[in-house]
Amino acid sequence: MSNKLNCIDRFYSTYQREPDAIAFCPYRISPLGAHIDHQGGIINGMAIDRGIHMAYGRKQNGVVEVQSMDFPNRVQFHVREVQDEKVGDWADYLRGAAKMLGEEYPLKYGVCGVIEGSLPIGGLSSSAAVTICFLQALCAVNNIELEAQEYIRFAKRTENLYVGVNCGILDQSCEVLCEKDSLLYLDCESNEYRQIKQPENMPDYEIAIFFSGLERSLANSKYNLRVDECKASAYYLMAYAGMEYDKMSNTRLRQVPYDVYVSYRDRLPEIFCKRTDHFYSEIRRAQEGAKAWEEGDLVKYGKLMFESGQSSIKLYECGCPELISLYWIMRKTPGIYGGRFSGAGFKGCCMALIDPAKREEIEQNVREAYLKEYPELEGKYMSAFCKSADGVMAMQRERVIL
Ligand code: GLA
Repeated sequence: MSNKLNCIDRFYSTYQREPDAIAFCPYRISPLGAHIDHQGGIINGMAIDRGIHMAYGRKQNGVVEVQSMDFPNRVQFHVREVQDEKVGDWADYLRGAAKMLGEEYPLKYGVCGVIEGSLPIGGLSSSAAVTICFLQALCAVNNIELEAQEYIRFAKRTENLYVGVNCGILDQSCEVLCEKDSLLYLDCESNEYRQIKQPENMPDYEIAIFFSGLERSLANSKYNLRVDECKASAYYLMAYAGMEYDKMSNTRLRQVPYDVYVSYRDRLPEIFCKRTDHFYSEIRRAQEGAKAWEEGDLVKYGKLMFESGQSSIKLYECGCPELISLYWIMRKTPGIYGGRFSGAGFKGCCMALIDPAKREEIEQNVREAYLKEYPELEGKYMSAFCKSADGVMAMQRERVIL
């Protein structure tokens, strides 16, 4: 990772002074447990050693004034007068975060700053990372200390209630809770989690990210539609089985025991069966993956990732042609243990666990094969190789110990 942060220079040239501090939030990957967090499923996750930085300083007058190295317009709003409706730009994450935080904590000071992402947008959850990075800065200038679950809650509420994406807790939890060299195993229904340390016998691995060259916004994808399909399936199944159910908004597939699904599956529309099959099989893969990880069995883990990717394509039906090509290319590339779409999977990137000894060949082979199919994406496609990293809480703990 390059150590040079352009956001510091930009802060200096804008405000003619050094920033008070730099906030950072890592991106995340979720090798197993895709598209099931919003249904109370089980996920595996890791934070990576790239993410969003924000060089910032306090503003006494309560104004938030932030620019991004990735987007043209500078945003300005008063921390206690955030508009109710989203605007539809990148800064909605900042507005939403200020609003959610302000509902529970008194906000006196604003913040000026420059935000910089270290990788292209799409698939690594830069939206949660921007939100959490900004929350850290806003909290610091207002002398607020948040607990892990508060970061997760505020960032998720920002997406759900302000931006309008009905996501679960996967992104925020990974970015906040993960620990370097560990796999986060999180039950999104009970919120219980554990860190699975990488055992000594596990072969060396790296995390490869292959960007399709297509950026995306979840607000415009079929993300919410898929969430609704899963909820509808759960609703039908509970009704068929005579189970008590709540409002649709409080209904999730995790509330439906598997044997209920087996008993009433035949009555469901085919499309709901597909989503539901993905749900139960992905939970199983996240559980089996955790076991393989504990045993240091990367080959088995990688196989499960490829299966998970296939389930996303066939059953959850989320890729786009470019991501699906990348998926098949990864499957054929020696040195890749396993891989799948990263994140929501409508655009963005694929991620893989790879053998570092084969990094150069993998980089070249995937690039050549992909650009042969999509020559127009030359200059937009890119790859990056990362390591697992601490999430925000582990980083804060370390700072306290130092
Ligand atoms: C996006 C969402 C997450 C999760 C993933 C898919 O990243 O924000 O909540 O649903 O997609 O697993």
